[in-house]
Amino acid sequence: MSDPPQLRVGVIGYGIMGKAHCYAYRVAPMLRALPVTPVVSVISGRNEAAVAAAAAAYGVPAYTTDWRSLIARDDIAIVDICTPPGTHAEIAQAAAAAGKAVLCEKPLALSYPEAAGALAAVARAGVPHAVGFNYRRLPAVALMHRMVAEGAVGEIRLWRATWLSDEFTDPGIPFDWRFDRAMGGTTIADLGSHLIDLALWLAGGISGVCAQAETFIRARAEAGGGTRPVTVDDAASALLRFRSGALGTIEVARAAVRRPCDFTVEVNGSRGTLVFDYARLNELRYGSADDDAGLYGMRRIRAEHPSHPYAADWWPLGQGVGYGSSFVNQAADLLEGWPDAPWSPGFDQGAQVQAVCDAMEASAAQDRWVAVSEVTGPGAPG
Ligand SMILES: NC(=O)c1ccc[n+]([C@@H]2O[C@H](COP(=O)([O-])OP(=O)(O)OC[C@H]3O[C@@H](n4cnc5c(N)ncnc54)[C@H](O)[C@@H]3O)[C@@H](O)[C@H]2O)c1
Repeated sequence: MSDPPQLRVGVIGYGIMGKAHCYAYRVAPMLRALPVTPVVSVISGRNEAAVAAAAAAYGVPAYTTDWRSLIARDDIAIVDICTPPGTHAEIAQAAAAAGKAVLCEKPLALSYPEAAGALAAVARAGVPHAVGFNYRRLPAVALMHRMVAEGAVGEIRLWRATWLSDEFTDPGIPFDWRFDRAMGGTTIADLGSHLIDLALWLAGGISGVCAQAETFIRARAEAGGGTRPVTVDDAASALLRFRSGALGTIEVARAAVRRPCDFTVEVNGSRGTLVFDYARLNELRYGSADDDAGLYGMRRIRAEHPSHPYAADWWPLGQGVGYGSSFVNQAADLLEGWPDAPWSPGFDQGAQVQAVCDAMEASAAQDRWVAVSEVTGPGAPG
């Protein structure tokens, strides 16, 4: 049997996400039978020595310091955007105009209007599009979604999520794009976009938010000397109202000492509770009102049984998967139906997430509840 034909990918950005995506394209065909073999043919970045080193390390045969030249290559079918958020919309629009499929890291853009522009561009071009909300592709999170859809908790009444990290607690960390609002580095957009995506996916549209945000370390040293003001939040939290009538809360922080990347998502429905805790990422906790009262409490589900989402692609029961596996699952999902199956979550979902992020920003700045329709205009999908 001959190998499936190669499908050439260009990855823009060689940092943490450039590495994760290159890894994913390489491993995906080992896990699942795909109609094409993805090959990362070129990678781009601004610093020539660094992008050359990354290309060598990731096994990519060519590199460039000009992302436009990557998009211009006729042999590239997929443009995969792994640069800071402030660059996403421009690159996505250029890639769509060149007829490329576009996978864009989260958040889709700097603002809802920019995200809507990127969505319009991919729709106009008729190209496949997706946003890298990779946590949906963890087996336990995918199982949580399946269980909610199958009615395991009944009607969702409460949704709760936290993401605690200590990424910014050291005042000695120098200024980079993560401290720059113009590059989309806010904590609301960085951590919040993942949680808001999961909220919309699990519990439906959000109608309004009441948020607060704070910057604790207000200036950082610049590489060339001097300091620069930090223009992003170190932490934020919000009350959420879902269209269904459910209530929600979200807390995101890059200012929580000795919390590395601790995130949790919990839903409480009319008949049950489901809890995901990233520190135990192969598990869910579940309790149902229908359980025997003598066993009151929550059971631990190991999301590794072959009947669970993604589990059959991976290791024997009990071995678990990790962060990197979510990117491999993402690549396999996107390529499984190539070229005809639509990609998900698409830029439409990315724009909806952005609208909630923008509503949180406006609410925190104006100290009031903000309806998401104030961002999107009335009648936009939620
Ligand atoms: N899905 C996830 O789990 C996850 C995790 C981390 C980051 N991200 C997202 O991925 C994207 C990239 O994040 P990262 O952590 O890989 O970043 P990084 O800083 O590690 O790498 C950034 C890359 O973009 C390039 N770049 C282009 N224009 C730039 C500019 N104006 N400023 C700085 N760098 C520029 C750099 O050369 C570099 O190759 C962001 O949108 C981020 O939110 C997603």
